[in-house]
Amino acid sequence: LATLAFAVGAQDYPGSKPITAVVPFAAGGPTDKVAREIALIMGKHLNTTIVIENTGGAGGTIGARKVVQARNDGYTILIHHIGMATAPALYRNLGFDPLKDLEMVGEIADVPMLLLGSKALPPKTFKDLLPYVKTNAASISLANAGIGSASHLCGLLLQSALKQELVTVPYKGTAPALTDLMGGQVNLMCDQTTNVAGQVKSGAIQSYAAMQGKRIDAFKDIPTAAEQGLPGIEVKIWHAMYAPKGTPKPVVDKLSAALQAAVADPGFRAKMAELGAEAVPPARATPASLQKHVAAEISKWSPVIKAAGVYAD
Ligand code: MLT
Repeated sequence: LATLAFAVGAQDYPGSKPITAVVPFAAGGPTDKVAREIALIMGKHLNTTIVIENTGGAGGTIGARKVVQARNDGYTILIHHIGMATAPALYRNLGFDPLKDLEMVGEIADVPMLLLGSKALPPKTFKDLLPYVKTNAASISLANAGIGSASHLCGLLLQSALKQELVTVPYKGTAPALTDLMGGQVNLMCDQTTNVAGQVKSGAIQSYAAMQGKRIDAFKDIPTAAEQGLPGIEVKIWHAMYAPKGTPKPVVDKLSAALQAAVADPGFRAKMAELGAEAVPPARATPASLQKHVAAEISKWSPVIKAAGVYAD
């Protein structure tokens, strides 16, 4: 009878009850920006409100674990990024398996990364930054959002390419980190364009390089690291949506249908493009596609992380 009752409930899902979307980083940051944009449009398709709840810490794993442990009634979901795929290699006591302990809803958007510096940092070009870092590594601080964050992963790739370890300063998200970068309290940061587009355009921070193989369309004037003598850095931050394990399939399907409509929404696609990001095609906003993607990304990044010899716990 309970199953029947829930099945009926699933048909009426979500009704007028708001849905909580956990964002595992501080408000105002790049993940939060993607989350608020997609939540607004999905809410319209679902005739309800999706409320963002920021739960930062430990590179996104605290917020992710919160959703793993949440009620599987469809009223708590998770919006997270590539950190879902790097955490298994970084956290030996992660406490959950992304592929088994969550329901996949679908992907949302891809976001490129830039290497940024405070205006106070003497090198004004990437070419001058490289020797400067080698000489001053012990006193150069590199901000990130904790082990397992996108900024941490990009920082790992940068330090491996430089063969130089910098002083890491962790934050609960790259929004607070950006404040310190602008204030000169921290020297460098790899961050997603969705967070720094305004500051890069206004010149409030220095942008040294695009951290991928080709220049970023919305930031064509920023050369890639490879173009400036540091090849091999290629990182793109994909964002996706999940629900607690056991969330009824009709509910997951409704969430995914609303997500597919939202990523196809011209307003969402334009907003992402304006911020240097790219909404995924609806075919990637499905549970089956996300399951394959997460598995592939775990396989891709685990050896890179193990080679770097970095663990969070
Ligand atoms: C954020 O939203 O603060 C970022 O995703 C943090 C990060 O992963 O670097």
